[in-house]
Amino acid sequence: MMDQSTSTLTMLPTQASTIAPGYDLLFWVITYMCVFFFVLIIGAGTYFVFKYRYRGGEHRVDTNHTHNTTLEIAWSVVPLFLCIGLFAWGFKLYLDFAIPPKDAIEIRVTGQKWAWNFEYDNGAASAKEFAVPLNKPVKLIMTSRDVLHSFFVPSFRTKMDVVPGRYTTMWFQATQVGPQQVFCTEYCGTSHSDMLAKVLVLPEKEYEDWLEKHRDDPNATPADKGKKIFNGKGGCNACHAVAADQAIPVIGPKLWQLFGRAEKMADGAQLTVDENYIRESIEYPNKQTVAGFAAGAMPTFKGVLSDKEISDLIAYLKTLK
Ligand code: CUA
Repeated sequence: MMDQSTSTLTMLPTQASTIAPGYDLLFWVITYMCVFFFVLIIGAGTYFVFKYRYRGGEHRVDTNHTHNTTLEIAWSVVPLFLCIGLFAWGFKLYLDFAIPPKDAIEIRVTGQKWAWNFEYDNGAASAKEFAVPLNKPVKLIMTSRDVLHSFFVPSFRTKMDVVPGRYTTMWFQATQVGPQQVFCTEYCGTSHSDMLAKVLVLPEKEYEDWLEKHRDDPNATPADKGKKIFNGKGGCNACHAVAADQAIPVIGPKLWQLFGRAEKMADGAQLTVDENYIRESIEYPNKQTVAGFAAGAMPTFKGVLSDKEISDLIAYLKTLK
């Protein structure tokens, strides 16, 4: 078994997040339901084999008795409603897992062969272990530098693929102080099984101290680095305005109040601006053009800016109110 935090009674890891108890309850209901029907069906089958066994003499076929309508409807309708009920319950839990609370703390996670890196909004960074505050929702925004990985915290009952070239998110709210084990759960090469990390769940005060301790340069948050790239290496400021009062000829779409904005494309499609859209716009600017702007005006920055730099740019764009 995994470690001392595994309950020997249930053989499941400890429940250390808000969604864990709900997941476990559904798991056990399905498990015991399966056991119940297994015993019922195999038991009845075994009993009938014994009861109606051939006892010698002539075979007697009852041609009048072909079926039992009540029984057939019952064994169709009862399982139907059980399945619909389990689906609805599972779907509800899935939604709870899929939709992070709006006030969740954002932590950026990067997976690469064979390590995890963590970055916070205040510029704190760490590898192998990262801190989260107790009883507060935390959202991980995850990407990979190379191949598919997957971020799994068994005691939180949360797991999500980590994919190169895009962002995936996962959220949780820890309910127990202490370290929790993280596994990579997508086979990613030789040291896949060593691709481990720890989530340190800390009380608020200790969490703040940890953050302060892990920040290299207090003046350089990802947003700060992104701003530098925006006005420097990327040269984005030549075509994009970042504030309403900026007096420059605007060639590309305005970039303030960007996240969550509904953007209309030249082909009539409407989409909501998020991390993946921004990244795609930087790497493949000609894939889609915002309505009202010239197609092909923006060059690609794929290979020019690193994944890390694009992530910093996105962090900066997020700060533009
Ligand atoms: Cu990363 Cu397995």
